[in-house]
Amino acid sequence: MDITTVAQPLTEIDCDALVINVFKEETTLDESLRVLDDRLNGALARLLESGELDCELYATALLHTGGQVAPARLCLVRGHQCAELNGERVRKVAGAAARFLRKRGVQRAGFFFRSNLNPTDQAVAITEGTIIGLYEPDHHKTEGREKRTFTHLILVAPHLADVEPMQTAVERGSVLAEATNYARFLVNEPANSMTPAAMVEQARQLAQTYNLEFKAINEQEMERLGMQALLSVARGSEQPAYLIVLKYKVDNAAEETLGLIGKGLTFDSGGISLKPAEGMRAMKMDMAGAAAVLATMRAIAELQPRINVIAMVPVTENLPSGKASRPGDIVRAMNGKTIEIISTDAEGRMILADALVYAQQEGANGLVDIATLTGACVIALGTMVSGVMGRPQEWVERLFTAAEQAGEPMWQLPLVPEYIEYLESEVADFTNVGGRAAGTIQGALFLQQFVRNDVPWVHLDIAGTAYKETEKEIPYLARWATGVGVRTLANLACALAGQ
Ligand code: BES
Ligand code: MN
Ligand code: ZN
Repeated sequence: MDITTVAQPLTEIDCDALVINVFKEETTLDESLRVLDDRLNGALARLLESGELDCELYATALLHTGGQVAPARLCLVRGHQCAELNGERVRKVAGAAARFLRKRGVQRAGFFFRSNLNPTDQAVAITEGTIIGLYEPDHHKTEGREKRTFTHLILVAPHLADVEPMQTAVERGSVLAEATNYARFLVNEPANSMTPAAMVEQARQLAQTYNLEFKAINEQEMERLGMQALLSVARGSEQPAYLIVLKYKVDNAAEETLGLIGKGLTFDSGGISLKPAEGMRAMKMDMAGAAAVLATMRAIAELQPRINVIAMVPVTENLPSGKASRPGDIVRAMNGKTIEIISTDAEGRMILADALVYAQQEGANGLVDIATLTGACVIALGTMVSGVMGRPQEWVERLFTAAEQAGEPMWQLPLVPEYIEYLESEVADFTNVGGRAAGTIQGALFLQQFVRNDVPWVHLDIAGTAYKETEKEIPYLARWATGVGVRTLANLACALAGQ
């Protein structure tokens, strides 16, 4: 898709449809739309007055202009009130319009939005909303695939002076949105195609295309490195496990070396602690943390911030078999700590434990892990808000700033030190599960055991936010994988680099 920013009168934008956002309860014509309306003999004003858009959020109305102005159609989309708009809401309005127009064969789409955002933020939100909105997870269908897409996205700048900064912002938005869609693709792929080896292949391709350092540690090397926690999960699967390492390196890098660690269960059946059959098919998404990290590396390689970044992505499956780990087994992680496996379904923390230790050994000194770790987080925060836990608080705040900029809602849960007792084991250093209380915090406290005290670390639990199984189609987004985390992590890397 070709994206351009122009400063032209609305009557002259050469496009199949010009999208204009409408505020809630907006019934009178805004001055900025006057020229358009005059040329259309008041048709726009009449449409607004008619109340046709007063119904639900993201309602759309299409006006054919009959050659009276350059845009062949005007597409009005109803959003929130002007004062209540933010990046996320502008993204949704843009995504809803894009999906609506795509269905109607529009290829050249213009966007003229009015909002309380500054022009560059608004341009980023529209670009992201459009690209993320147009993604469709249908590439395994042999019939009825959505082939239509925009060839041109044309953003209308309020003033000539805004064109250049908007265009720069749009290019960044486009990188982040394409990376988000890449993560969505990885997550939506079923477990028989996105195997651990296929994830390695994806990382290898990324490394080649974007000039990153790459290695994939195999099971023999894991044995040598003492990664028994990771291996204990891999044991039940016929698919070989890997620890993917990608490194992005620059000259005059910032002080920190950012370590991004992503949970990569290409399928989580629970293992011997088998999950109920219902809903198990969704567990192909248990590599959403891994997908977010790979996609972030792609975005970072394109945006080129001055900071070194190490990605650590353990990939395996959690399946029951005669070789699988059993409840009661005791294993030794790479840092020498012993773990009593109470539930083989608490496998994410096992593979992350060794990956965290190895990331520090490789020189990462500021860590973020991202994982679909606990069902408890879905209960606590639902599908809109990701869980955040970490320390020191300054490091957590840096993540929050990046998340806010990305428009990805996150909420912090406390790392209550006393709750470590939940993980007390009678036979090992600790258990991998400790009852039902504070399940999300338990997961984080477990991971904390593998992070040195002097290394800033934050854990993101995206169990609720990575994948949406709503039956109903959301007007601005295809369902299933959301690509959550990519934009936040890429923003964090840029912010740490002072960019
Ligand atoms: N992958 C699951 C968590 C999950 C649940 C992700 C729902 C997405 C949606 C994780 O491996 C798991 O099974 N967690 C257990 C932990 C328990 C055994 C302590 C859970 O949440 O039940
Ligand atoms: Mn599990
Ligand atoms: Zn899992």
